[in-house]
Amino acid sequence: MSASLQDNRLTALHERFAKEFGGAPQIVVRAPGRVNLIGEHTDYNDGLVFPVAIDRDIIIAARATDDNFIEIYSEDYQQKDRFSIADIIKTEEKPWSNYVRGTAAVLLKHGYKFGGFQAVSTGNVPQGAGLSSSAAYEVAVCYLISTLSNLSLTKKQTALFAQEAENNFVGVNCGIMDQFISAFGEPDSGLLIDCRTLDYKSIPLNLKGRELALVIVHSGVQRGLVDSKYNERRSQCAEGVQLLAKHLKREVKSLREIEELELDECAMALPEIIFRRCRHVITENARVSATVEAFETGDLARVGKLLEASHQSLRQDFEVSCEPVDILVDLTANYPGVTGARMTGGGFGGCIVALMEKAAVPGYTASVPVEYLKQTGLTATVYDCQAAAGASTV
Ligand code: GLA
Repeated sequence: MSASLQDNRLTALHERFAKEFGGAPQIVVRAPGRVNLIGEHTDYNDGLVFPVAIDRDIIIAARATDDNFIEIYSEDYQQKDRFSIADIIKTEEKPWSNYVRGTAAVLLKHGYKFGGFQAVSTGNVPQGAGLSSSAAYEVAVCYLISTLSNLSLTKKQTALFAQEAENNFVGVNCGIMDQFISAFGEPDSGLLIDCRTLDYKSIPLNLKGRELALVIVHSGVQRGLVDSKYNERRSQCAEGVQLLAKHLKREVKSLREIEELELDECAMALPEIIFRRCRHVITENARVSATVEAFETGDLARVGKLLEASHQSLRQDFEVSCEPVDILVDLTANYPGVTGARMTGGGFGGCIVALMEKAAVPGYTASVPVEYLKQTGLTATVYDCQAAAGASTV
């Protein structure tokens, strides 16, 4: 985020705090959204992912109180919620507050004790775009409570508790990627996460030195019915694991334990559709490792090919893309100066991610959305992003 934008948002946040609660906040925290470079639908299969925290975030200004109530005003919804820490239930009227309620409830469940606070939140992560605005909110709240009440949560705990809030309170069955990168992100770096062990390694992207831009483009397709299709993909992968274990006559905990060659040998034992779902996950893990290696050796042409292969696998084998997104990826990948492009996130609409020469961004922004509109009737929105730090105090 540029300094001036940050300053403007901070000033507005302080003003709102004074208006709602009087006086000044005690602390301001932030947590970023994310874009996944590669490693899609692998996190809940114990696989590898390579996301980047972006310079779009949720910020929360807060002050501890000496009672047992959490009072939070959402600038984005222009609504205030107030609830007792002693009795946290889900709200239908203010769904945005379930990220706050859920995170607080999870911390209580794990035995943490904390007092009430007054807070104002605001965000600039596009919502419903697949850039993890909800994970950012959960991580920001978790980090806030930990800091205000000296709980000393580690980044790993923050990510896991935030994910638990999403899974068990909000009710979305996501993997660990989004919350993990929002807690652990580092400037100008991607994070290789092994979702089986939760080991991770920060990989410098050196985009500035390479004169490259990280560009996210929203396809204009709102992600409808995402949850049910996401859950269907999860159960298809689980079915693959069961059938493979039966066929191989050994315990198989996840697709991470299966090599591509072994999968090929089991092809006859799996329904065709399950075979393709498994093939995506297994080949995608290999592409993540290869992409990290290519970044480390500076082989950007290879990075581009791997992004392209990931997209094709998501389109054909995992079937989570859609026609407009395919068109946007094609137009982008063929634009001069583009290293590579693919759909990103859960799929069924939302965003694509691309790496391109910095100098190509203005021309790209001026021409590709126009051609895309002509071909699809949809409006694409381009976000030129930076890789940012994970949750922090501002
Ligand atoms: C969503 C989920 C993530 C991950 C991706 C697909 O973003 O929240 O956990 O499964 O889809 O890679």
